[in-house]
Formats: sequence, C-alpha cells, structure tokens
Amino acid sequence: MFDSIKSLIGIQSYLGVDIGTTSIKMVEISKGKRRPKIENYGVLESYGHLERINDAIQTAGLKIMEKEAAELLKLLLKQLKIKSREAIASIPAFSVFITSLEIPEMSEVDMAKTMSFQISQHIPLPVQEVAIEWLKIGERDDESGFTKQQILVISIPNELISRYKTIFKLAGLKLKALEVESLSLARALGDNNPAPSLLVDIGGRSTNISVVEKGFLKYNNHTDFAGGSLTQAISSGLNINIRRAEELKKQRGLLGAGGEFELSTLIFPFLDAIINEANRGRTVFEKNQGVKIERVLLAGGGANLLGIEKYFEEQINLPVTIGNPFLKMEYPARIEPMAKELGPSFSVAIGLGIKEFV
Ligand SMILES: Nc1ncnc2c1ncn2[C@@H]1O[C@H](COP(=O)(O)OP(=O)(O)OP(=O)(O)O)[C@@H](O)[C@H]1O
Ligand SMILES: [Mg+2]
Repeated sequence: MFDSIKSLIGIQSYLGVDIGTTSIKMVEISKGKRRPKIENYGVLESYGHLERINDAIQTAGLKIMEKEAAELLKLLLKQLKIKSREAIASIPAFSVFITSLEIPEMSEVDMAKTMSFQISQHIPLPVQEVAIEWLKIGERDDESGFTKQQILVISIPNELISRYKTIFKLAGLKLKALEVESLSLARALGDNNPAPSLLVDIGGRSTNISVVEKGFLKYNNHTDFAGGSLTQAISSGLNINIRRAEELKKQRGLLGAGGEFELSTLIFPFLDAIINEANRGRTVFEKNQGVKIERVLLAGGGANLLGIEKYFEEQINLPVTIGNPFLKMEYPARIEPMAKELGPSFSVAIGLGIKEFV
C-alpha cells in the first residue's frame, strides 16, 4: 500500500544490490531534490570465505549460491526495514566475458550480422548460451587509413542470469535490471573529467580493473589478487589466525611503524601483484587506444587500506585518489561521519541504485 501511495506522489526508490564474494551490500536510493538520495544502506559480511575456502557467497567456481544469497538478502531487507521491492543488481566482472573488437563502418543491418559472427569467434561459450550486449566505444583510423569502429562486447552466460533471477524471486524482490559491476562503478565514480581513468576495485576475492573515458567503460580485466590475499599473507607471515590478521590489516595497513614494520613487508608483494595487473591494463589500453591514462581511482573495501594511496601512486606514477560516490549524492546527516570509509565499498551498489535517476 505504501508503495502505491509513494508512486502516486512520485516518490519511488530503487535498491542497488551488490552481491560480492565476501559480502552483500544494499542501498535504497530515491530521486532526491537535486541529486539522487541515499535513503538507507546496509551490508552483510561473511568471514567464512577466509576460513573455509568453499564458504563464499560467490564461490571460486563462480557459482553463486542461490538459497544462501536469497536468505542473506531477506535478512538485510528485514534489518533495514526496506519498503522498496525494485532491485537492480550487479554481476561480478569475473563471471562475464568482456572483449573489444574493431570492425569497419557499416550499416546497422550488416552490423548485426557481423557482430554475431565476430562474437562467436571471441567467446568461450556457444552464442545461444549467452546474453550479448555491445556498445560502440570509439573510432580509430588504422594503418591503411580506414576508419574502424571500436566495439566493447559484454557476454553474460544465460545460466548466470537465471541464477540471479531465482535469488531475487526467492528474496521477494523484483529484479529490474542486471549489469556487470564495472558499468555500475563507472556510473558511480565517473565525473566530468574527460581524461581516461583507471578504476581499480579491490574486493575480497578479486580485483576488478577497468578504464573509463567520458563515462564509458573502455577496458576491463580482473585478477584474483585482492584484499583476501593481503589478509592471508599476514596470517601466514605472523602465524596468527585469519580474523586477527584481518583486524591487524584494518588497524594498521601500510602505516605500522617500528615493530609493526613487518606488516607492510608482508603486504607489499601482494599489493604489488595488484598494482602490476593494473599497470598491465593501463599499457594494453594505451597501446590500443593511443591515449594516455591520467589518473587512478581506487574502490572496493581494499581501497581503505591505510597508506594505499601514497604507495600506489609511487608505484604507478600517476595521481591516485580513493573514489567517493557520495559526491554525487544527497544523504542523511547521520551517514556523514562514515561516508569516507563507506564510499569505496559501496561504489558498485550506489552505481546500481542511481541507474534510474541519471
Ligand atoms: N580498513 C580496511 N583496510 C584494509 N582492507 C579493508 C578495510 N576494510 C575492508 N577491507 C578489505 O576489503 C575487502 C572487501 O572488499 P569489498 O567489500 O569491496 O569486497 P566484495 O565486493 O565482497 O568482494 P569481491 O568484489 O571480490 O566480490 C576485504 O578483503 C577486506 O579485508
Ligand atoms: Mg565487489
């Protein structure tokens, strides 16, 4: 009943739902006065994945656990007393295939034919088993002077889509849209700066690396080195349990001094692996597109690692900032003190929640 009254007077809100490998994040977003407004937010974390490798919400086999995820969603809805039932959800970048292609300029009809052939050559699954979306991301004159269109192709396995549909149905939610998390991130963190930016989303089990230019996703890759790798390194290096290692990492990060110096030396090799992967993405993009990346934006819970900005900047030799999706939002004053810390980990959920309002 409330929902129908709300929609009659034009107050409609949407839920952005980010089901990560280690947590589920939810934000409820309404239209706001001048900018989209965060009405409510919440997160459920699972530590199980650190202790038992099979106990993740999204497992390494990339099979999301429908029943578990739906139960967690129901719990969040209840705890947050959320009324909205319309959800927009993200799919992890590691479970879709993202490639870019170059094709000559052609009519739309020819394009449809060409794309279905081209795509079948580039993805590891039969075309009928995936939902395919393609976006023109640019143009380039090749060596012989012919203009080529650059196309980004995103293929999502149908099986994965139906798993998400099941989860949301079981949780009593209407799944309005489903998109790859890199697009949500680009929406949440993209700004008026036309220069290409490297987005590095350091999650629990995977780090998603993408390039965004003028609001468009131009490149995407990922690595298994992520926040969890840093915790594992501390745990085995200091011979302490995972929970203690996680606490130490969050308390001290790279800033521990004196006796704590060891902590950063344990972390560096794994952080370097993440930075190397980001740098590889930068090189591939710059070579293919012929433009330079000018800055790095960090996101994901891993971006809260104390001292990460400075270290990342020294290693990659570009300005590095921690992404702040709250800049685009209205939100209740009670959130203000937490905004800085929440920003990186809620970037994907916020990007989903504002989809209908931007
Ligand atoms: N203050 C902090 N310092 C260092 N690391 C942190 C801090 N806060 C959170 N993290 C790390 O962030 C990671 C979780 O990030 P996030 O919530 O973005 O992951 P996720 O979205 O569930 O995972 P994924 O994106 O891999 O599916 C964990 O490894 C956690 O230890
Ligand atoms: Mg994530």
